[in-house]
Amino acid sequence: MSKFPGGKKLQKKIEALEDEDLKKRIKVQKVSVKRPQDLTEKYDVIITSMTLHHIFNTKEIVGILKTALKDGGHFMWIDYQKTESSYYFHPEDFREEVIPGFTKEEMIQILEINGFKNITVSVVQHVSKVQRVNNEDVQVELDIFLVCGRLN
Ligand SMILES: C[S@@+](CC[C@H](N)C(=O)[O-])C[C@H]1O[C@@H](n2cnc3c(N)ncnc32)[C@H](O)[C@@H]1O
Repeated sequence: MSKFPGGKKLQKKIEALEDEDLKKRIKVQKVSVKRPQDLTEKYDVIITSMTLHHIFNTKEIVGILKTALKDGGHFMWIDYQKTESSYYFHPEDFREEVIPGFTKEEMIQILEINGFKNITVSVVQHVSKVQRVNNEDVQVELDIFLVCGRLN
């Protein structure tokens, strides 16, 4: 995943933390979900924020991430809602490269298929913005969901 600079951004945010003890306990690792054999550690919580819509085969990707969760661990997935206008959420040059959002039901189903239990959905933000499409303004309205599930 070297094409994506996500790890560097996160490292900078960690360096800016004032709590030195917390800083020492955070480790940033860049691993590819396409190389699940690299996911050698097991975690209590996995959080994916506004990223899975960039990667197709969401069901399979969640299945791979799940292998890095401890039994009883929690998976937290933040992503944007599929609505009539969500196709225009991204700027024009990105639109064909991303999934145009997920319904609440799709997100729940992806977690259920992967064996997650106690699934909850919360709306963490509402997005209301105008995008320029073919020289016209399109109003984009959607929620940002946080979907959580527990493994076993
Ligand atoms: C909208 S940003 C979200 C960043 C951050 N997680 C947050 O919530 O602010 C989308 C992220 O997806 C990452 N990304 C895009 N395509 C990806 C892919 N195929 N594999 C892994 N990460 C990808 C980008 O590097 C970027 O960090």
